[in-house]
Amino acid sequence: MRYGRFDDKHREYVIDRPDTPLPWINYLGTEEYFGLISNTAGGYSFFKDARLRRLTRYRYNNAPLDSGGRYIYLRDDGPHTPGPSFWSPSWQPTRIPLDEYECRHGMGYTIIRSKLNGIESSTRYFVPLGESLEIWELTLTNHRDETAQISVYSAVEFNLWDAMDDATNYQRNYSIGEVEVLDGTIYHKTEYRERRDHFAYLACSESVSGFDTQREAFLGAYRGWDSPSAVETGQMSDSVAHGWQPIGTQQVKVQLEAGEQKKVIFILGYHENLINEKFDPPNSQTINKRSVLPVIKKYLQSENVDTAFQALRKYWDELLDKYQVTTPDEHTNRMVNIWNAYQVMITFNMSRSASYFESGIGRGMGFRDSNQDLLGFVHMLPDRARERILDLAATQLPSGGAYHQYQPLTKRGNNAVGGGFNDDPLWLILAVAAYLKETVDWGILDEAVPYDNQPGSEEPLYGHLQRSIQYTLDRLGPHSLPLIGRADWNDCLNLNCFSDAPGESFQTTTSKDGKVAESVFIAGLFVLAAKEMISIAEHLGKADEMEAYSAAKQKMEKAVWSAGWDGEWFRRAYDDFGRALGSKENDEGQIFIEPQGICVMAGLGLDDDRATKALDSIDKHLATPHGIVLHQPAFSKYYLHLGEISSYPPGYKENAGIFCHTNPWIMIAEAMAGRGDKAYDYYLRINPSAREDISEVHKCEPYIYAQMIAGVDAPTHGEAKNSWLTGTAAWNYVAITQWILGIRPTFDGLEVAPVIPSGWDGFEATRSYRGIRYEIRVKRKGPGNGVRLEVGGNPIEGNIIPILSNGKKEVQVQIWLGEK
Ligand code: BGC
Ligand code: NOJ
Repeated sequence: MRYGRFDDKHREYVIDRPDTPLPWINYLGTEEYFGLISNTAGGYSFFKDARLRRLTRYRYNNAPLDSGGRYIYLRDDGPHTPGPSFWSPSWQPTRIPLDEYECRHGMGYTIIRSKLNGIESSTRYFVPLGESLEIWELTLTNHRDETAQISVYSAVEFNLWDAMDDATNYQRNYSIGEVEVLDGTIYHKTEYRERRDHFAYLACSESVSGFDTQREAFLGAYRGWDSPSAVETGQMSDSVAHGWQPIGTQQVKVQLEAGEQKKVIFILGYHENLINEKFDPPNSQTINKRSVLPVIKKYLQSENVDTAFQALRKYWDELLDKYQVTTPDEHTNRMVNIWNAYQVMITFNMSRSASYFESGIGRGMGFRDSNQDLLGFVHMLPDRARERILDLAATQLPSGGAYHQYQPLTKRGNNAVGGGFNDDPLWLILAVAAYLKETVDWGILDEAVPYDNQPGSEEPLYGHLQRSIQYTLDRLGPHSLPLIGRADWNDCLNLNCFSDAPGESFQTTTSKDGKVAESVFIAGLFVLAAKEMISIAEHLGKADEMEAYSAAKQKMEKAVWSAGWDGEWFRRAYDDFGRALGSKENDEGQIFIEPQGICVMAGLGLDDDRATKALDSIDKHLATPHGIVLHQPAFSKYYLHLGEISSYPPGYKENAGIFCHTNPWIMIAEAMAGRGDKAYDYYLRINPSAREDISEVHKCEPYIYAQMIAGVDAPTHGEAKNSWLTGTAAWNYVAITQWILGIRPTFDGLEVAPVIPSGWDGFEATRSYRGIRYEIRVKRKGPGNGVRLEVGGNPIEGNIIPILSNGKKEVQVQIWLGEK
C-alpha cells in the first residue's frame, strides 16, 4: 500500500494523506540553520547544533505522534459556513479532517497544501541559501462564492537554547524566559541579558492584530496545541512572557473576496549581534535590532522569497547534476539522481544528530560516521568535504585514536558516547583517499592539523593518516589481528565490556584490559586502508613508506587467512577468552555480514574462490527478501561477553536486524566478484523506492533509506526504523554509482567498469569530474563485464578515461560492454 507517489520531474515525493504510518520527514537548510519538518508540519529548528543551539521545542516519544512543530491555524471569522470554526491546514495539531491534503517534500523545501470548506491553503517552507532563517510562505485562496474573513495564526514554542537543559531543568528555566515584541515581530531573548549574543525571532509580512508569547495565555489552562483557546475564541491576550514557556504566536486577519488569493509570509530566524553592540540604547537591556531588521524586511517581501526559492532550486539542480543516470530501472534512476544523493547531503550535515529517531540531544558528529558519509558526498561539494576532513582530523588524539564524536557547535571531540573504538582512525584514511581521488588536491596532505584541537600539536594531515595506520599496528592481539577495543564498526559488539549492572552504558563501561579480543572486521578495514596508503605514498614518491605499508598489509592478510577464515566465510572476531565468533563452532552468531563485506572489498579472496565462497554463504545464510541480516543465528539471550549486541531482542538492530549500512558492502563485493545480477538484486531489496508498494509494512519514508529493517527473527520482519541518518545513504550511493554502474574516481582518473545486471542492454550517465563533464554511454554487446572504451570517438586502452589535454569541458565516452 502507498501513501503517496514520486514526482521525479519536480524531484518531490507527494504524500497524499496526513496519517502516514510514521511522520515522514524532510530537512530544511543547507549550511548552518536547519530544521526537521514532517508531512504535517511537525519538527523543530536549530542553528548548527541540534543540542546546544535549539530554536524551537519538540516533544519526544510523543503521543499523539509528532507533537511540536511550526504550526499555522486558520479560523473562519465569518460569515460562518457549516464546518469547524478553526483547523490546521497541515492537519496537525488539530487533526480536523481536511477535504484535500497534499504534502510535497522536495530538495530543501516542503509544501503542504490543503483545502477545507472552500478555503485552500498552501504553505511553502524553506531556508534561503546563506541565511539563518526559515520562511513559511502561506498562500490562501477563497474558493467560496462569497467573501471570507479568515484569521491566520502562527505558532512555535521557543526552546531555551540547550535542548537537554530545556527538557529537564525546569527549576531554573521556568524563571528565565524573556521576549520582546515590536511592530508585530516577536523576539525570543532568553539569557540574552547575560552571556548569549543571539536571539530568535518570528516576523510576519502582514500587520498583526494580536499576539501571545506566554504559552498558557494562548492555549488556556490544561489545553493543548490541538485546541488553543485564543484560536477558539478569536481573542489573543497580547501576553508578554516572563518565565514559564515563551512562545511565538501572531494573529493576522485576512479578508478574501470570492476567488481571491492572498499571501502571508512568516519568518522564523536566528540572529547574532556583536558582543559590544548587543543593546540599543547601549546601556539598556533592549535587543539592538539594527542588523536584523534589514534581513527581516527583505524576506517579508514576496518577490525576494521567490528569488530565494529559485536560488535554492538552482543550487540543488547543480549539485544533483554532477551525477545523473538513465538506466532501464526507475528505482535506480530516482534514487541515484534525486533521493539517495539528497540523503547523503543530509547525513553529511547532520551526522547522526537530529532525526525523528535521534533526539538531537544524544549524539553529535560521529568520527566514523562522518568519514563514511563523506564517501558519497565528496563529488557534490568538495570544499565542504575538505573542511570536514580537517575538522575531524583535528579531533584525532596523539595516539592516532579518535573521540567517537564531536559537537558541531564547538568542533571539539568528547567522550560522551565513549572512545577507544579501534576502527575509528582507519575511516579517516578512506575519507581522505576519496577526497584525493575526486579532487587531486594533494595539498590537503600538507595542511597543518592539531591533535585533540591542542594548539602547538599541529602536524601535516599526512602524519594523521600515518598515525591512524600505526594505531592499529600498535594494537594487535594474540592472533596478530587488530584488538577490537570498545567495539569496531558494530558499536554493540562489546567484547571487553562484561556489563552486568542494569542501565550501565555499553559505550563507556570497560571491565577488561582489552588485550585479547580481536576483530577480523578491523583487519579487513586495515587492508583496505593500507591499500590507499600505498597509493598515496606512491604518489608522494615515498618508496620506503610504500614498502612498509605493503609489508603491513601482507602481514595482516596472512593473519586473516590463518585466524580469520572459517572455511566457508570470514570469521567475525575473537572474544576475551580467545574463542572465535562468527564461526561454525558457535551455536549463535555463526556467520556475520560485516567481515564478508569488508574483507572482499579489501580484495581478500578475489584471486581464488574464497571471496565467492564467502558471498555464497551470505546468500545461503543471511539474505532475506527485505535485505541481508547482520548475522545468524540471532542471539537468543544476553551474553555477558558479547555485550549490547545480545541485548536486543532477536531480529532488531545489531542483533540480526537488516542493518542496511552493511548491505551495500555486499553489493560492492558482488560487483568486485563480477556478479552484477546478484549485486543488483541486493540493491533492489533495500531500495526504498522499490519498497514503496509495501509502505504499510516498511512504515518509514519510501524516499530515503532507514538504518534498520527488522530481520527474520523479529515478529515485524520487513518493518524499517531509524530513517534518514545512517551510513546506508553514502554506502548505497557508492555501491550503485561506483560499483554497479561502475563509474568511479581513482587516483589516476575516472574509471568506468560497470557490473550491471545481465538483462540490461546498457545505460547512460553524466558525471562531472575534475572540471570536465563526461557523457557516458554504455552499450551491452555480449555477456560479462569486459569493457572497450572510446573517448571522444577514439579507442583507448584500459578503462580509465585519460585526462585530455585539449581543454574540452565536455567529453563523450562510449563503452562497449561484454566484448572481452
Ligand atoms: C545502537 C547503535 C548505536 C550505538 C551508539 C547503540 O545503542 O544500537 O546503533 O550505534 O548505540 O550510540
Ligand atoms: C550506528 C552508528 O552510527 C554507526 O557508527 C555504527 O557503525 C552502527 N550503528 C553499527 O553499530
